Amino acid sequence: MYKVGNIYFIAAVAVIGGALFGFDISSMSAIISTQPYLCQFNQRGFNDKGLCLGPTDGVQGGITAAMPGGSWLGALISGVVSDKFGRKRSIQMGSWIWIIGSIVVCASVNIPMLVLGRVINGFSVGICSAQVPVYISEIAPPSKRGRLVGFQQWAITWGILIMFFICYGSSFIKGSAAFRVPWGVQAIPAALLWLGLVFLPESPRWLAKKDRWEEAKDVLTLIHGNGDPNSPWVHREMAEIREVVEFERANADVSYLELLAPNMINRTSIGVFTQIWSQLTGMNVMMYYIAYVFTMAGLASDDGGNAVLLPSGISFIVNVFMTVPALLWMDRWGRRSTLLVGAFFMCLWLSINAALFAVYSTPAPPGMFPSAAESMLITGAPAKAIIASTYLFVASFAPTWGPVSWVYPPELYPLRLRGKAVALCTSANWAFNFALAYFVPPAFATITWKTYVLFATFCAAMFLHVYFMFPETANKPLEEVEEMFDDKRPGAVKYIGTPAWKTRNTRNLVLKQERNEITESEEKIGYQEHKESTAA
Ligand code: BGC
Repeated sequence: MYKVGNIYFIAAVAVIGGALFGFDISSMSAIISTQPYLCQFNQRGFNDKGLCLGPTDGVQGGITAAMPGGSWLGALISGVVSDKFGRKRSIQMGSWIWIIGSIVVCASVNIPMLVLGRVINGFSVGICSAQVPVYISEIAPPSKRGRLVGFQQWAITWGILIMFFICYGSSFIKGSAAFRVPWGVQAIPAALLWLGLVFLPESPRWLAKKDRWEEAKDVLTLIHGNGDPNSPWVHREMAEIREVVEFERANADVSYLELLAPNMINRTSIGVFTQIWSQLTGMNVMMYYIAYVFTMAGLASDDGGNAVLLPSGISFIVNVFMTVPALLWMDRWGRRSTLLVGAFFMCLWLSINAALFAVYSTPAPPGMFPSAAESMLITGAPAKAIIASTYLFVASFAPTWGPVSWVYPPELYPLRLRGKAVALCTSANWAFNFALAYFVPPAFATITWKTYVLFATFCAAMFLHVYFMFPETANKPLEEVEEMFDDKRPGAVKYIGTPAWKTRNTRNLVLKQERNEITESEEKIGYQEHKESTAA
C-alpha cells in the first residue's frame, strides 16, 4: 500500500482528530436556545407565548456534560488500546466511533438517545485527543515536533469555530433540521480522517516496541531520510530507539502503576498538571460562557435575539488566528518560556476583568437576564474594557497554553509509558473541563466577579509551578528527554532530575543534526552541549 512520507501531510490528516474535539466544545452553544431543539426535547412545557421551554436545567446539564464525560473515559482507555493496536489504528477506531455517535445524535428523538449519542461522540474524541499527539510526536523530527503537534490545537480552534458557525447558520432553519444538520454533517471529517490514515505510516517507535524493526526503519527512511536508508540521521534515530527499547525491556516494569513509581511520579504530575492548569486558566469560561460575559457587558439585544452570538464568534476567530504564531515559532521559543508568558498575561487580563467588575458593576436586577449566572451589569467604558480584555485573554491562551498543553505531555515520557501517560494527562483535561462546565455558572451567580479572582490566582500558581518544576523539552530527541529526568546525574535532584530552571532549549544543534550537516568535531562539542543542557 502506498504510504505518504511528507510530515506536514501526515500531521494535517492526523489533526482532523483535533477538529472533532473542537466540534465537541461548540456543538451545543448555538443550539440550546433554539425552538426546534427546545421543542424536540421539551420537559418543561410552554411559556405564555406558546414557546417550548425545553429540558430542565439539570437534564440540560447532563446532556451537555455527556460529551466531556465520554471523552474522559475514552482518553483514559485510549492508552491501552494504542499500546496494543498501534497509534494509527486507535485513531482510526476513534473515527468510526465518532461516525456512529454522530448518526445517533443526528437521529435522536428523545433525551436518552441524545445523551447516548453524545457519550459515544465524546468517547471518540477522548481517544483521538489523547493519541493524535502521541502519534505525531513519535513520527516528527525533534526540531518540528512542537509545530506539528501544535497543529492539533489549531485544528481544535478551527473545529470550535466551524461548528459554532454551522450551528449558528442552521439555527435559522425551520424544524428539527436546525440541529440534525450540524450533528449529521460532523460525521464527514471523521470519514476523511479514517480514509487519510489508510495512507499514513504507523509510528516508527511503536513498531520498534513491537519488534517490527524493518518496518520502523522503512518509516524513518521515508519520513526523515528522504528515502535514503543510509542517512546518518536515520541511523542515529534507529540507534537511539534501539537503545531505549532494549534498556526498557531489560529494566522496566511495564504496568500502568509505573506512572506512580518514585522515579516517574514527578513526570506524571507535570504532565497531568499541564492539562489541569490549561483548563484552570479559565479558557473554557470564554469558550462555553462568553455569551454570559458579553450579556453582562451590555452586548445582548433587548428583544432576546441572538445578538450576543456574533461577538462570541469573534473570540473563536481570535482563537484560530492567534494560534498561528505558536505554529511558526513555538520550537524556537521553547516550552517553558511559552507557558510562563502565557500564564503571566492571562493572569493580567483576568485581574483587570475582576477589578473592572468589582469597581464598576452593579448587581443585575432580578429577571433582567435569562440566566442567574448573568449576575452583574456593567456599562460604558468599563464594559468596553472588559470586552477588550476578554479578547486579549483568548489571544494570550491561543499561542501559549493551548498548543503547549498538547505538545508537552508526550515529550515527557519514555516510550513504554507514553501512550498510557498521555492518556492519563488528557483524561485530566476532560475531567476538569467537565467540572468547570458545571461549576462556572453557579460561581458567577454566587461569587460574581470573584470568579475572575479565582482563575487569576490559578494563573499565578501555574506560573510558579512551571518555573520551578517544568523542564525544557523543546528540540531534544525524545530519548534524550529521558536523561533530563535521571536523578543520578551530577547536579540532579533526587526523584526530580535536572532542576527545571537550569534546562535549556538547544535548537541549533538539532537542526544541524537533522540536516546531516554536522562534522565529527562539532558532533563531539554539540553532544557535550546537549548533555550539559540536560544535566547542568
Ligand atoms: C483545551 C480546550 C479548549 C481549547 C480552546 C484546548 O487546548 O484543551 O479545553 O476549549 O483549547 O481553544
